[in-house]
Amino acid sequence: MPAGSKLEVAPLGALGAEIKAVDLARVSVAEVEAIKSAWYRHDVVVFRNQRLTDDDLLAFSRHFGTLDPPPNQGAGRKSPPGYPDIYVVSNVRDERGEPIGALGDGEALWHTDMSYAAHPPDASMLYALEIPAHGGDTSFCSMKAALTRMPKSLVERLRGLDIKHDGTYDSGGYVRKGLTASDDPRTSVGTPHPAIIEHPVSGKPALYLGRRRNAYVMGLDLAESERLLDQIWSYVETAVYRHRWAVGDLVLWDNRTTMHRRDAFDPNARRIMHRTQIKGSSAPKRASMLLATAQ
Ligand SMILES: [Fe+2]
Repeated sequence: MPAGSKLEVAPLGALGAEIKAVDLARVSVAEVEAIKSAWYRHDVVVFRNQRLTDDDLLAFSRHFGTLDPPPNQGAGRKSPPGYPDIYVVSNVRDERGEPIGALGDGEALWHTDMSYAAHPPDASMLYALEIPAHGGDTSFCSMKAALTRMPKSLVERLRGLDIKHDGTYDSGGYVRKGLTASDDPRTSVGTPHPAIIEHPVSGKPALYLGRRRNAYVMGLDLAESERLLDQIWSYVETAVYRHRWAVGDLVLWDNRTTMHRRDAFDPNARRIMHRTQIKGSSAPKRASMLLATAQ
């Protein structure tokens, strides 16, 4: 705990930690360092009862790096006026019936943000402004833990493989703006990344999957790629943290070591979240260290 701070880190189980007694609108340099070290260790960090303006959210986000522009979604980029680096995730429509945000109210399947890019964002954070009474929970899974459950032979096989991460569909299942629907993983738009990557700070290995739809193991025939992907995906829920949102919650996660998903919620309920993301400093790097944790 930094001198003069009451900041407290409370692990949430196999994945994630809640960081208590810190005001993110006036966070000190020492507190930021303590938050980063908890984040590298727990991959997902949760803060409750925050009161952040959009400027506060941007200032806190910038402690983690340069901000990445919002993704290109089916319904187009959505930002509050004057805040192009904030991405509105919402099902709410304005007085003209236009959606104020992206991703609607449906279920979002397991994914990591924008891994179809050559340099995917290092981190994302979501800040809750309005939430429905039920549904809309966000779950996170540990891709470090997934590796530890796999047989060693499978880990060894994956070490040399690359998986293509599809860029056609967003996490709500909508075709991204300007793209054409495609369901052939071999030819759809996307970027190959190593199947097992190494975290640039902690050096820990993590399985790197992006999303299941249109994923493709480079160099394999399609049926073999599908079989291998199904096998790998059976390990992704090894360690899961499910976040039940309250207004004022901020959740920060590592896109290199976790995936996330969202439960559907009542379309008539309102949910408004503001998201920022931190630009990836490099392409995901193939894990080189001995995977001692795998069995
Ligand atoms: Fe996402």
